[in-house]
Amino acid sequence: MDTVLSGIRSTGNLHLGNYFGAVKNFVKMQHENKCFFFVADYHALTTHPKPENLHDNIRKVLSEYLAAGLDPEVATLYIQSDVPEIMELYLLLNMNAYVGELERTTTFKEKIRKQPENVNAGLLTYPVLMCSDIIIHQADKVPVGKDQEQNLEMARKFAKRFNHMYGVEYFTLPEPYNFGEELVKVPGLDGTGKMGKSEGNGLYLADEPAAIRKKVMRAVTDAGPQEPNAPMAEPIANLFYLLELLSTPDTVKHFKDSYNDCSIRYGDLKKQLAEDIIAFNAPIRERIHEIYNDSDYLRKVVKMGAEKARESASKTVREVREILGYRPF
Ligand code: TRP
Repeated sequence: MDTVLSGIRSTGNLHLGNYFGAVKNFVKMQHENKCFFFVADYHALTTHPKPENLHDNIRKVLSEYLAAGLDPEVATLYIQSDVPEIMELYLLLNMNAYVGELERTTTFKEKIRKQPENVNAGLLTYPVLMCSDIIIHQADKVPVGKDQEQNLEMARKFAKRFNHMYGVEYFTLPEPYNFGEELVKVPGLDGTGKMGKSEGNGLYLADEPAAIRKKVMRAVTDAGPQEPNAPMAEPIANLFYLLELLSTPDTVKHFKDSYNDCSIRYGDLKKQLAEDIIAFNAPIRERIHEIYNDSDYLRKVVKMGAEKARESASKTVREVREILGYRPF
């Protein structure tokens, strides 16, 4: 059985791209693997969030992942800042991470560009904290998107370096994982590219119906098919992709046929798509609100998660201290 671990940004509200691209697989995988999912709320501090927002962001993403189907009884679902052992390992790993290699990380260079007024040491050592998150549970597989591949590469490097420096085969080297056959890349509605938070084209699970309608009706289209069975331009293919994901086969067939005989009206297609997205979201959105407002339940979930995570994390830290030479008198 593999140990799978994934970190969730505390501002990473779930959109359909996350849902179909990752979370749906997590829901399945949690029964077949030893899974750790956590809200990365220490990493969040690198951008100096307002204290009054930090807790609420954590509560929101936690509610969303629970509503989407992560089962805290099955997987280990926790808040990073509830597991102080991660910090200790982070400190120890920092001693073997070099400033030069950290400065060369793409994500660091990008952050310097984005927030030149706040180039803090936490940003520089972000990959070390991420490494600590991962190897503290000896994770084998880490599902990451393209933007996190280099950070994962660094985590492997630090783990390997530790093993090498101390002549041990202690840490498991984490592998990136992209769900293989199950990989689904949901496109955005702005013509090209995928759905993403930074792309600003997200259809969120928690979106109100009016917001979904507005976003879908604004989707990029073209002048329409000019001849029967015309090839489909990317923006139109993207609309059909979402339709196939969320609508019934009959609906898909209806619009495909009308595209192929040139009678399609994109306005009708969008209206249908919007309603189908709203119907898909409805039960999840309701669950999100229920969970978000249920402090007793959330308290129970994070307590259970912290206990399970700390059990695994404290074992690692104890063994690492021993390897480093911290011994009892
Ligand atoms: N850096 C990741 C992101 O921005 C979040 C994260 C933190 C993470 N620690 C992790 C992801 C450990 C995977 C493993 O999305």
